[in-house]
Amino acid sequence: MGVGISNWALARAVARAGQEHGVPVLGVVSGTGLPILLASRLRQKDQQTAQAIATFPVPAIAEELLRTYYGTVKQPPKPQVLMAGNAAMVRRMNILAMASNYVEVRLAQQGHTQPIGINYLEKIQLTHLPEIYGAMLAGVDYILMGAGIPNQVPEVIRSLAGHQSASYLIDVAGDTQRYKLSFDPAAYIPAAQQQPLTKPRFLAIVSSHVLAQALATKVTGVDGFVVEGPAAGGHNAPPRGKELTETGEPKYGPKDQPDLAKIAGYGKPFWLAGGFASPQRLAEAKALGAAGIQAGSVFALCEDSGLRPDLRRAMRQRVCDGTLGVTASPTASPTGFPFQVAALDGTLSEPETYAARKRVCREGYLVQPVRVGEDIVFRCPAEPVDAYLKKGGKVEDTAERRCICVGLCATAGHAGASEAPIVTIGKDVSAVWQLLAQNHGAYTAEDVIVHLFGLHATRRDMRAPALDAAPPA
Ligand SMILES: Cc1cc2nc3c(=O)[nH]c(=O)nc-3n(C[C@H](O)[C@H](O)[C@H](O)COP(=O)(O)O)c2cc1C
Repeated sequence: MGVGISNWALARAVARAGQEHGVPVLGVVSGTGLPILLASRLRQKDQQTAQAIATFPVPAIAEELLRTYYGTVKQPPKPQVLMAGNAAMVRRMNILAMASNYVEVRLAQQGHTQPIGINYLEKIQLTHLPEIYGAMLAGVDYILMGAGIPNQVPEVIRSLAGHQSASYLIDVAGDTQRYKLSFDPAAYIPAAQQQPLTKPRFLAIVSSHVLAQALATKVTGVDGFVVEGPAAGGHNAPPRGKELTETGEPKYGPKDQPDLAKIAGYGKPFWLAGGFASPQRLAEAKALGAAGIQAGSVFALCEDSGLRPDLRRAMRQRVCDGTLGVTASPTASPTGFPFQVAALDGTLSEPETYAARKRVCREGYLVQPVRVGEDIVFRCPAEPVDAYLKKGGKVEDTAERRCICVGLCATAGHAGASEAPIVTIGKDVSAVWQLLAQNHGAYTAEDVIVHLFGLHATRRDMRAPALDAAPPA
């Protein structure tokens, strides 16, 4: 999970590079935290965002959002995930979720004819339905989802493609029952304004063949898998064992390795992720039966990503110096999933910076519904400790937790100046080093594509004569 790093500009740059060089790529936008980004961009008077919103299928919704966040409203409502609220508040949140996903995909589609994907974290369940619908209204081609068991998504896609009401079962800790959230498109888009929607393909992000098998055999509508290993940036699947390494990171063993031959046997295409960003590893992935790879870290540090420019510079410097430390923290993320954190001054990786932040839960994206007695409460181990304990949480679960909702928004320049960022990156940054060395200290998404596909002969300055070259198989 990142917020706004793999933004529309990066996904578009990837898609355009693929089109220009005739190689098969998929630009994917991150679907995490988009309501926050939309509100923030509109408040910053971002013209492209405002123009994209204006194309939303229901003009009244576009006008309402523009009036609220782009216009003169002094204190617009926060784009917070709703833990409780009246019908008007639910409606406002759903509109923000729909419109922000619509805008991100719509902007990523501009200037090329390549497909665009959007990825979500299954764990962030409360907003899935309006988010997926918003992305589908824009005509998203692929939906990817990991960090949980995304077995409900294909049915959601089928319902929403016909503008039918969809539902999602929510996990509630401490309860054997799951609770159903429903979303009816007709409440937002009158039937007369509903255009036919294309059903996007669905790729599940998994780390084990066991989950891949369950999804492949028991769920209709899983079109393929991204198989992500523990070197990948962002969140990782936890290992089976609870043991930690000497450096306090989760310890992965042979049992955590997915059986790729089994995954290949399920008859669906799969892509490998986590330290695969090199032509050699791409070839290796293909030899193992994969359709290709998914890369994140090398793109996160390119010119086109949403990473705050000062953080990009600092990260690149550390890669060049060979001093970049990346730790898979078992505690930093409130989700409980291991989360890769780069050691960087002035960020939440530093104990002093972490200690200086007053705990507060402002966004609510990572809250977990929990049954406490008769009530269902929403809590996050990074919220103020007292509040967490009052909701039945254990004090030991609050230790070292970072508020990554706000921290990750700060990393993309979308939190107040007083908020410290937190930077995630994968364990393998060798491609970053190589690209910085080849390109005098700065590189673009196009440079990454050129590098990964081994297209050195088609670099910008000599592209024309080389375009006839056959794309790699
Ligand atoms: C900065 C950063 C942000 C990421 N954000 C997301 C995200 O929002 N959603 C997601 O599914 N994966 C996310 N990822 C994981 C990537 O999609 C990808 O699987 C991973 O980076 C591949 O491994 P690599 O980092 O070794 O290239 C992120 C990775 C990085 C480095």
